[in-house]
Amino acid sequence: MQVCFVLLLSVCECGALAEKDMEPITEDKGVLVLTKSNFEWALMQHNQLLVQFYAPLSGESLGSILEFAKVATDLKETTSSVNLGQVDVSKEKDLAKELNVTSVPSLRLYLSGDKYNPVNCPALKTSTSILTWLRRREGQSADLITDLSQLESFVAEDDVVVLGLFKDVDKGVVKVFYDVAADVADLPFVVTGSKEIFSKYNITDESVVLLRKSKIAEQFEITSQTIKEDVIHFIRMYEMSLVTEYNGKTSGKILNSLLQNHMVLFIDKTEKGFRQIYRTFKSTAKQFRGVVLFVLIDTGEPRNGRIMEYFHVRREDAPLVRMVNLTDSFQYQLPSDQLDAQTLTDFCQSYLQGKAKPKLQSEPIPDGWDKQPVKELVGMNFERVAFNPDKNVLVLFYAPWCPESQMLFILWEELAEHYSDSGDVVVSRIDITANDVHIRMTDRYPTIKLFPAVYDERVVSYSGQKKLEPIVEFVSVERVRAQKDKAKEEVERKKYLDQQKSIAKEEL
Ligand SMILES: *[C@@H]1O[C@H](CO)[C@@H](O)[C@H](O)[C@H]1NC(C)=O
Ligand SMILES: *[C@@H]1O[C@H](CO)[C@@H](O)[C@H](O)[C@H]1NC(C)=O
Ligand SMILES: *[C@@H]1O[C@H](CO)[C@@H](O)[C@H](O)[C@H]1NC(C)=O
Repeated sequence: MQVCFVLLLSVCECGALAEKDMEPITEDKGVLVLTKSNFEWALMQHNQLLVQFYAPLSGESLGSILEFAKVATDLKETTSSVNLGQVDVSKEKDLAKELNVTSVPSLRLYLSGDKYNPVNCPALKTSTSILTWLRRREGQSADLITDLSQLESFVAEDDVVVLGLFKDVDKGVVKVFYDVAADVADLPFVVTGSKEIFSKYNITDESVVLLRKSKIAEQFEITSQTIKEDVIHFIRMYEMSLVTEYNGKTSGKILNSLLQNHMVLFIDKTEKGFRQIYRTFKSTAKQFRGVVLFVLIDTGEPRNGRIMEYFHVRREDAPLVRMVNLTDSFQYQLPSDQLDAQTLTDFCQSYLQGKAKPKLQSEPIPDGWDKQPVKELVGMNFERVAFNPDKNVLVLFYAPWCPESQMLFILWEELAEHYSDSGDVVVSRIDITANDVHIRMTDRYPTIKLFPAVYDERVVSYSGQKKLEPIVEFVSVERVRAQKDKAKEEVERKKYLDQQKSIAKEEL
C-alpha cells in the first residue's frame, strides 16, 4: 500500500540545445521537471507541451501523478508530438502564481510557446482518457458512421455510446458536438448524418443521444443556442444507469463519478424480497438523478467481500442502505429497516440538507483492553483515550487482513516495551475496519498518528520510516512541543477561569 516516488530517475542534459545561460531541463521518467527558471525555455523548445500542476502532499495529486507517468510511457509508443512537463506548485509557488494556477492537480496544454492561452484539460482521471483527449484534439474527435450496420458494430463494444445525429456532419451546430467529444475523453463518440439512423430511432431534430445496449437511454436536442457545457452536463448526468451494480467493470466509473454522494444498497440478489426492494430503490434513484449516484452491492457475490469489509457490512446485515460522501468518506446509515419509497426519499433529502448523522461503529470494548502493553482501542473508547490532555497517545490504525498492518504489530510491542516506564506515552492500536473514529481519515492503512498531550484536539500524522528509532524520535519532538503548548494553554485557561470568577463576583 505504500506508494513511493523515485524522483530524478533519469537526468537528461539537453546541452546541445541549451543556450549557454539556460539551465538544462531535468527529466523524470520522460516528464520535464519545470521550474520558474526553465518554464519559458521549455515552451520555446516544445510546440505542444502538456503540463501537470500538482502538490505532492495532496491525496488527490498522488493518483494523478502516477497516471501522468503512465501517459509519458504510453505516448512514447505513439506518433504524437506532445511533450510532457510537471510543476510541483508546492516548490514553485512563484511560477504557479505567475501562471494563475488555481487548482491542483490540473493539466494544461501549452501550444506554440504561448504562455498566456493554454488549453485547460478537463478533469480526466486515467492515463487512457488523457491520451484520448490528446488524440481527439488532433484529428476528428468522433467517428463518422454512414449506415446502421456500422453503428451496430460500434454499439456492441461499449456499454454507453454517445451518438450525434446531425443533418450536416461537417459544419454548423455539429461543431459543438466535436468539441464535447474532444473533452469527454472517457466515452466513445460517433456522429452520423444517415437518414436510416435518424428514422431507426424516430428522431427528427438534431440531437445527441446516449445509447445503452443500442437502445436510446436519453436524448438531448441541439439548437443553435446549445453550448458545449450543456451537452457535457447532460452526458455526465445520464451516462450511468439509474442503479449501477458494483463489479470489476463498473467500480472505476463509480469511484470516478462526478457525483460525490452515493446511495448504496447492500442486498443478496437471490433473496425473496429482492425484486420489490430493487424496484423501490430504482424509483427513488429517478428523483435524485444527477445529485446522488445509486449503487447496488450484491452481498451474495463472494467477490464483493473486500468492498463489504470496507463498508463494515456483513452478509447478515443485508438488506441495508447507506449513504456515502466520497469527499470525506463519511457514511450515513438509513435509520430504519423499512426500505419503502418514502423512507428512502426522506433519508436522501435529510442527508443532502446536512441533517443526517454520520454512522459511527464500534466493537465492544475488549476485556482488559488497557492491561496489555499495547492498548486495544475501539470506536467507543477511542476519543476518551486519544484526546487525553495528559497523555501522548501513539495510535496504529490497522486493517487486520493487510500484511503491511500485520508486520507492524511486533514493532508496536517493542514500542510499548520502550515506553513501559513512561507515564505520559500510551502505545495503542485500533482495527479501523471494524471501528469508526470521528476524525477525518483520508490515508490508507496502516496509518500512524500521534495525539499529543494538549487540551486542543491535535492530531499529528507520522510519515517517516516504520522503525523503532525514528518513531521514538518523532514522539520525543512532539512530546516537547506538547509540553510547551500545554503550558501556554494552562495560562489561557487560568485567565479564562479568573475572568469567569470575577464576572460571577460582579453578578453577586
Ligand atoms: C494572470 O492573470 C493576470 C490578471 O488577470 C494577467 O494579467 C496575466 O497575464 C495572467 N498570466 C498568465 C500567464 O496568464
Ligand atoms: C415516432 O415519434 C412520433 C412522434 O413523436 C410518434 O407518434 C410515433 O409513435 C413514434 N414511432 C415510434 C416507432 O416510436
Ligand atoms: C461531503 O463532504 C464534504 C467535505 O467534508 C462537505 O463539504 C459536503 O458538504 C458533504 N456533503 C454532504 C451532502 O453532506
